Amino acid sequence: MNEQNPEPKDIPVAVVGLGLMGCSITTCLLMAGHQVVALAPIPPDMVTAMPRIREHLERSFKEKITTHPADELLSNLTVTEDYKLLGESKLVIECTLEDPAIKKGVYEKIEAVVPDETLITSNTSAIPISILQQNAKVPSRFLGLHWAEPSHTTRFLEIICGDQTYIKHAEWLYELSHRWGKEPILVRKDIRGFITNRLMYAMFREAFYLVENGYATIEDVDRSCRNNAGYYMTLVGVFRWMDLTGVPAYHNVMKDLFPVLSTGTEVPKLIDDIVKAGGKGISNAHGFYEYTPEEATLWKETFEEFSYEIRRLALKYPADVVKKKLAAKKD
Ligand SMILES: NC(=O)c1ccc[n+]([C@@H]2O[C@H](COP(=O)([O-])OP(=O)(O)OC[C@H]3O[C@@H](n4cnc5c(N)ncnc54)[C@H](O)[C@@H]3O)[C@@H](O)[C@H]2O)c1
Repeated sequence: MNEQNPEPKDIPVAVVGLGLMGCSITTCLLMAGHQVVALAPIPPDMVTAMPRIREHLERSFKEKITTHPADELLSNLTVTEDYKLLGESKLVIECTLEDPAIKKGVYEKIEAVVPDETLITSNTSAIPISILQQNAKVPSRFLGLHWAEPSHTTRFLEIICGDQTYIKHAEWLYELSHRWGKEPILVRKDIRGFITNRLMYAMFREAFYLVENGYATIEDVDRSCRNNAGYYMTLVGVFRWMDLTGVPAYHNVMKDLFPVLSTGTEVPKLIDDIVKAGGKGISNAHGFYEYTPEEATLWKETFEEFSYEIRRLALKYPADVVKKKLAAKKD
């Protein structure tokens, strides 16, 4: 499983769990040229998945992300409730609820039908891969594959090794994921939250601290994120940002600021209250902000529109943008 330049058309894949992410991951894999078996672990998925995937594919065609019409790509898709149809897959992507007990039950069903060479991966947001692979039949072929929603437009992908993962499998996925339009990150040593969620949650914790202690409103914290980090992060990460804007200034600030940043370990009351009251965010129009049903729908549509737009900008500025400019100058 470590051949160079893997070809998607020769690699049948499966997605297990067809909620929000399972559908966008399936879309991404179809656009890359894979044959995909999409497995619905619960009956409602059988009703909702196909229209959702079709909608993603039609929009992607319209946005010129793919040159293949939806019907053509859908001919490579099988949506099923039957685990036996996973038997031919070389790669399985589990994308069920973030609940270790549910995931464990799903892995047992997958392992019962796939050969020992098939890679099994989880889209878990934060459960350590070393824990998920503990009870696996073949722990060395178990990895984390952490996508960002909407998976058919974003370039983000973390490939995570657990303690027992065979690194060559991760390297193979790393190569393959370039064919999915990703700029992948290889997490060679398992750590809770992986890379991106450790970074994001450090910022979330501080955001709660500022609001709960009356330093700023939710609106102002959001505005700060959008117009500072949000301004540059599609182009560069924190390290390149410090290079761009002058390293010593950051060194100076860290000395005095790090000791006073929040180090809280409890789930903040602000989010606890919302969740206990049933708030889910846009999906039920109650979250940190309140929404009329019309506003909630418009936010969903606006996010979708933005995803396609920022993708275009991101593609113009890949990670190796400067290397490419240098090469163009030499030609
Ligand atoms: N939503 C995101 O932005 C995001 C980002 C990265 C990773 N993830 C991770 O992806 C996974 C799925 O998240 P989602 O946002 O697609 O969730 P979702 O709620 O949209 O979908 C959950 C899916 O889980 C499956 N499921 C539900 N109950 C089940 C059961 N009892 N047995 C088996 N399967 C069951 C179904 O397929 C259901 O559609 C989670 O592990 C989540 O942490 C989500």
